Amino acid sequence: MYKKLYSILLISIIIGLSSACSNHASPYPEREPTKVLRPADLTAEELAYHEKYMQYTVDLALANKAIFSAIIVHNNGTIVCEGINMGFKMKDNTQHAEIVVMQNCSKLYSIQNYANYSLYTTGESCVMCQAAIMWNYFSKVIYGTSIKTLYCEKCMGQVLIDSNVINAYGVGLSDDYAPVQIYGDILANVTNTKVFLDYCTNKKVWTVTPNCTAPSSSSSSNSGSTITMNVLINALIALVAIIGFSSLL
Ligand SMILES: *[C@@H]1O[C@H](CO)[C@@H](O)[C@H](O)[C@H]1NC(C)=O
Ligand SMILES: *[C@@H]1O[C@H](CO)[C@@H](O)[C@H](O)[C@H]1NC(C)=O
Ligand SMILES: *[C@@H]1O[C@H](CO)[C@@H](O)[C@H](O)[C@H]1NC(C)=O
Ligand SMILES: *[C@@H]1O[C@H](CO)[C@@H](O)[C@H](O)[C@H]1NC(C)=O
Ligand SMILES: *[C@@H]1O[C@H](CO)[C@@H](O)[C@H](O)[C@H]1NC(C)=O
Ligand SMILES: [Zn+2]
Repeated sequence: MYKKLYSILLISIIIGLSSACSNHASPYPEREPTKVLRPADLTAEELAYHEKYMQYTVDLALANKAIFSAIIVHNNGTIVCEGINMGFKMKDNTQHAEIVVMQNCSKLYSIQNYANYSLYTTGESCVMCQAAIMWNYFSKVIYGTSIKTLYCEKCMGQVLIDSNVINAYGVGLSDDYAPVQIYGDILANVTNTKVFLDYCTNKKVWTVTPNCTAPSSSSSSNSGSTITMNVLINALIALVAIIGFSSLL
């Protein structure tokens, strides 16, 4: 009698637990990170074009004693807006170079759709900036130094999600959404050495102790670990359910 009641109780807990877990599951399909085009993927002409604007972005940073700088370029080749990180100057940590340049450009020209523009940035965009770039419907974003390099090699505090992981989820923004094409490591030989220095030994307020495993291409590691976690949770629920049912017999 008590054994039966106990089993019913156990089963209802399991059902409650598993439905609670599935309620927390994302309703959106998992997406593979979008493909990042790197120098080796480009023709000599394409590479030279992007390197020209990246060099301009680098010079902007150096001229302003900044490390993060960004420019917006029209498809016709005209540089329309410039920006540098204003976090310390404005005492507002959200004023990353990309945010500054987009806010300034939108204010100046009332642009709400940047499909005919590209954004160049010395450092790969963080989750905040990448999302803002997507909300503005840019067609291209071009970066020099990757988040992985900034965190793992330069000891710079970063939110550890690659921009192409965030980029994959822009499909929800509009029915005819075209993903931003990300170009990575453009003139990284310059941004890695002349713009971003070694903050591991040359300590700054943003210095952190990185915890990086084998520096493989980190592009798909985020979605990979999410999938692994889901599999683990499901396996655990299944195991508890099996134990519960066997106690009924
Ligand atoms: C390029 O586009 C910008 C921004 O719309 C515009 O101001 C400029 O006149 C254009 N230049 C050419 C050569 O078409
Ligand atoms: C952005 O625009 C504001 C207002 O015009 C200006 O004060 C600021 O210098 C601009 N920032 C950059 C980095 O160009
Ligand atoms: C981009 O440029 C094309 C060609 O000039 C134009 O037809 C289109 O409206 C522009 N897109 C946006 C969002 O301004
Ligand atoms: C960086 O690499 C480019 C080729 O991608 C080359 O043209 C340039 O000279 C290099 N710059 C430095 C400072 O090594
Ligand atoms: C580094 O990360 C691994 C894997 O998450 C973890 O096991 C380890 O404790 C971390 N090490 C430090 C020093 O935080
Ligand atoms: Zn940012």
